Amino acid sequence: MAIRTAPAVGRRDPGIDKTPYGMLASGERTDLFTLRNGNGIEVKITNYGGIVVSLTAPDRHGDLADVVLGFDSLDGFIGNRPYFGAVIGRYANRIAGGRFILGNHNYTLSTNDGGNHLHGGLRGFDKELWSTRTVRRKADVTLVLRYLSVDGEESYPGNLEVEVAYTLTRDNALKIEYRASTDQPTPVNLTNHTYFNLGSGPDILDHELKLYADRFTPVDAGLIPTGELRPVGGTPFDFRTQGRIGARIADDDEQLKRAGGYDHNFILAGQAGRLGVAAEVYERKSGRALRVLTTEPGLQFYSGNFLDGSIVGKNRKAYGRRSGFCLEAQHFPDSPNQPHFPSTILMPGAKYRQTTIYQFATL
Ligand code: GLA
Repeated sequence: MAIRTAPAVGRRDPGIDKTPYGMLASGERTDLFTLRNGNGIEVKITNYGGIVVSLTAPDRHGDLADVVLGFDSLDGFIGNRPYFGAVIGRYANRIAGGRFILGNHNYTLSTNDGGNHLHGGLRGFDKELWSTRTVRRKADVTLVLRYLSVDGEESYPGNLEVEVAYTLTRDNALKIEYRASTDQPTPVNLTNHTYFNLGSGPDILDHELKLYADRFTPVDAGLIPTGELRPVGGTPFDFRTQGRIGARIADDDEQLKRAGGYDHNFILAGQAGRLGVAAEVYERKSGRALRVLTTEPGLQFYSGNFLDGSIVGKNRKAYGRRSGFCLEAQHFPDSPNQPHFPSTILMPGAKYRQTTIYQFATL
């Protein structure tokens, strides 16, 4: 789709402000950073969990609205079960049975999702306090978050130094660059779990989606990949041409039923390690469009199936089923147990790197 950069609204100078946010049970204080690109977009990020708290994007008339799900204050994000806006690690998505073998060791991680390990375990990176530094380069503003995940944390091997840089660019993109290094071999799979709703409707079923994926990884009843790489052709997982998210979500399809909708890893057509377009989303009423680019080989498309109205978020809004969607750039779930998936094992001396860009525009 031809994307035109959003109209310049509320022009202000680019910059980053830091304000106190709230206190954790430990007594530690958190901060809230506001990134402005002088071009309408404003992103608020806290160093608790690296959470993207809000992101305002203009519609086709230049009216700004917050397009991400979350809470009005820190308290809501604490214990953040649906992982709103957060950095996910050490391993995004699931590891079957919380077990994997590396070298001559059997590792047993906590199981926090049925019998499986999900999103880094009981206390993943989404629940940690990160240290921060800010950088301004011309009109681009960056918040750099750092976290040392110590050897044995959540039973993972190795001290892992992690850096996540959020840059708001002058062309209305939120760029996320992840870096990590370790002193022992360990699985690493980082992502961001922001839920988007580009419109003002209660759900995202009318959003139109295009995925640059010819195959996906079907899952078993516990949402662990079966190991199959299945072509999307002739299935409700075929988003190679742009279509409504809701068009086939209720089809009589075993995979959709297992996840209660879409909650699957799509195998991106681009070359892993090279930045390529992964997805495009368009919300017709507002005219807002989102393009996702990544260097990762996979993209988890989650249609917010587990949201059930019990979470009351911003402006006392109850987040109902499918009120937001996630596009999580990642390596495939359960890769440590599936040797034919691209490896997620980081070795000492090597650098983990990934870049994902959420680019906003109007059509
Ligand atoms: C991911 C998982 C989902 C669910 C959500 C958070 O997208 O794949 O199954 O856990 O996170 O609720």
